[in-house]
Amino acid sequence: MAKARRPVTRNVCTVFIFITAFWNNIQSTEETGFSAVYSDRFLNQVPKNLPAEATVLDLSHNNISQLQISDFSYILRLQVLNLSHNVIQELNFSVFQYNENLEHLDLSHNVLQTLSCHLALSLRHLNLAYNNYTDMLMCPAIDMPKLQYLGLGAKRIQGSDFSALTNLQLDTLFLSLEDLSEYRPKSIPVFNMKTIQIVFHPHRDFRILSDLELNATESLELCNIHDEQVSELKMFLLKLSRRGRLLNLTLNNMRCSWDEFISILQAAWETTVEHLVISNATWMDATNANNFNYTKTSLKTLVIKQTIITSIKSDPQHMYRIFSNMNVTALTVSGAKLIHMLCPSNPSQFTYLCFSDNILTDAVFKNCNNLALLETLILSVNQLTSLIKMSLMTSCMMSLKHLDMSQNLLQYEAQEKGCHWGENLAELNLSSNLLSHSVFHCLPVNIQKLDLQNNLIASIPKETVELRALEELNLAFNRLSDLPGCGQFRSLRLLNTEMNSIVAPSPEFYRTCQNIREVKAEHNPFRCSCEIREFVDLSKQGLMVLVGWPESYLCEYPEDVRGIQLEEFHVSELVCNTTLLVAVVLVITVVFVAVVCGLCIYLDIPWYLKMIWQWTQVKHRIWKNKPEDVLDHLEFHAFISYSEHDSDWVKNVLIPNLEKEDGSIQICQHERNFIAGKSIVENIIDCIEKSYRSIFVLSPNFVQSEWCHYELYFAHHKLFQENANNLILLVLEPIPPYIIPTKYYKLKALMAKRTYMEWPAEKSKQGLFWANLRAAIQIRLPEKLIHFE
Ligand SMILES: *[C@@H]1O[C@H](CO)[C@@H](O)[C@H](O)[C@H]1NC(C)=O
Ligand SMILES: *[C@@H]1O[C@H](CO)[C@@H](O)[C@H](O)[C@H]1NC(C)=O
Repeated sequence: MAKARRPVTRNVCTVFIFITAFWNNIQSTEETGFSAVYSDRFLNQVPKNLPAEATVLDLSHNNISQLQISDFSYILRLQVLNLSHNVIQELNFSVFQYNENLEHLDLSHNVLQTLSCHLALSLRHLNLAYNNYTDMLMCPAIDMPKLQYLGLGAKRIQGSDFSALTNLQLDTLFLSLEDLSEYRPKSIPVFNMKTIQIVFHPHRDFRILSDLELNATESLELCNIHDEQVSELKMFLLKLSRRGRLLNLTLNNMRCSWDEFISILQAAWETTVEHLVISNATWMDATNANNFNYTKTSLKTLVIKQTIITSIKSDPQHMYRIFSNMNVTALTVSGAKLIHMLCPSNPSQFTYLCFSDNILTDAVFKNCNNLALLETLILSVNQLTSLIKMSLMTSCMMSLKHLDMSQNLLQYEAQEKGCHWGENLAELNLSSNLLSHSVFHCLPVNIQKLDLQNNLIASIPKETVELRALEELNLAFNRLSDLPGCGQFRSLRLLNTEMNSIVAPSPEFYRTCQNIREVKAEHNPFRCSCEIREFVDLSKQGLMVLVGWPESYLCEYPEDVRGIQLEEFHVSELVCNTTLLVAVVLVITVVFVAVVCGLCIYLDIPWYLKMIWQWTQVKHRIWKNKPEDVLDHLEFHAFISYSEHDSDWVKNVLIPNLEKEDGSIQICQHERNFIAGKSIVENIIDCIEKSYRSIFVLSPNFVQSEWCHYELYFAHHKLFQENANNLILLVLEPIPPYIIPTKYYKLKALMAKRTYMEWPAEKSKQGLFWANLRAAIQIRLPEKLIHFE
């Protein structure tokens, strides 16, 4: 296959030139339009069901051989069509007759042999390079009035091949001459395009450079400069010197000796070129022989990328010196395995230096006083190890504002002393190093932008110097367990702490970071609990933007909410606020107690409890005093003492309720059981003696009755005698203590000491009252007494 035969070198150039030219042009379409990608699908023909609204269509890397009108006729908005790397042999532009918006057409890497161009009126960008034709295929200028970019290639160039170009107002011409096998000298006209890109045959020199004349061209890119072309290139540059308008020269894929490179560089030094880029170069056999003449030059920027310098026979210092003494303002030497770079011998013009992707060590620019104008220094991807040494390096660079030392092996130990940074350093990139939290003891005080991502920082020490000017701090990919406060960084606006180990941002952060505008804290293992709420509120208040909110902020702990977005995690105010919780519990308790008390009072529960207590007491006593001992002389269960005024209640309520109908309870009562002939006192005593209990119905009337008092006296007397609890005080009506005459101190004492039963007015309570009273006097009287009945 044709593809496979092509040398590797070509691909480098192709990719390099195509990508810059083409992608710059279509980016905008891609953003607004809709792209459909069908590359690498083994398609033999254009699919029939392409999206009709597509503006960008990529059919590259397939086996499509033929195109038809119907393939694209319905994609009316099509602007960009990529058909590169297919097997199209012939093309008639009429297949695009309905695609009036088609601007970019890539037909490179096909096997085109014939082309008919009419109706390509809208095309701005056409790539026909890398096809199979011998002579250059070209459309008449009249068919492509808007064309700006044209990619061409041929196996043979002769005579008037380029004549069609003369009427085109091209911006860019891309010429692929990699497959060139025949060239008739002087066949190349004077070009007017702004940009010209030429890929040469890697191994043969057709002396095209000597024919090349530039008029209005500002940018020239040449690819595949090998030994064969070197002398020609030098001639070409000499021809250019001080004439023409060339500003940008790019030499890609260059392979020659060091000495030849120096001579090319020397030639370029004297041209109008301001920006020189050399990439993918290999220079061999460097020697000491060359001296470089830094005469006055137009050159401002020199970029040397991805370059290999082999077998250095010379002292490498010689090579370093050539670079370091250059009188340009911006120098880049990257991807060149440089071990060292010397300090310029004289005060240098450099404002920008980039030595990224080399193997420079801490010795670079040590004690270098000649870089006073340097503003930007990029030393990323090297072998730097000591932060202190690098800080001292910058201390003589009075203008240095921006220093990039990312992707090195930098370390700093807290016990080291003597960091000293350039005074004007405002931006420092220390990302991807081996720095721990102690780095905060060695930072430039006026720093504004600090990138510390991907280091080993676990915390920010509290006692570091204040970085008052710091506005942007990047701490992503570290080991932070908390969001840092802004106490030491008053001006902080942007904080990045994504991919750390932050579980719950601390209140310190909210308190001190009031001025912050933007926080990135995505992908941290947040614990969703009360503490997280303040953080969630941050985004709601809109005071600071949380980048990536809400989709990149997920709960990690506890397990049951893992994977839930923080925004969707809710926990009630009550659970989190202790004061509130205590208050609520208190209120509930108070209400509960109040309700219970209210209920008690309403239902008179204490009374019931008291009654039940008395009842159990009585039962207990009965069980304890084996009644047989005291029962011998008993004839009655109870003697009732009451005032005449209460006799109605006693006779109609008390006695009927106690005696019941079964006659199991015997009551001794004045009228019924007093024996005539005996004195009243005798009768009372007798009655009391023969009764198991004495019930006194207390009421204000009782207190007034003399007799009653005697009865009480006797009964009480018996109580002490037998040490038995035979007195039952039944309060029928409440007795205010003041109405009890003083001489009845006994009654007073009894009422104060003994529990008494109160007659409940409510019907509902009377049942329990009776049961209690009955239980108190219930006893089995001796058998002999039963027949007294
Ligand atoms: C077309 O596809 C080739 C190969 O994939 C690619 O190099 C080129 O940049 C593409 N061009 C456009 C316009 O997409
Ligand atoms: C610091 O360097 C890293 C890697 O070299 C880069 O990705 C990052 O964007 C740089 N930071 C800044 C602030 O430029």
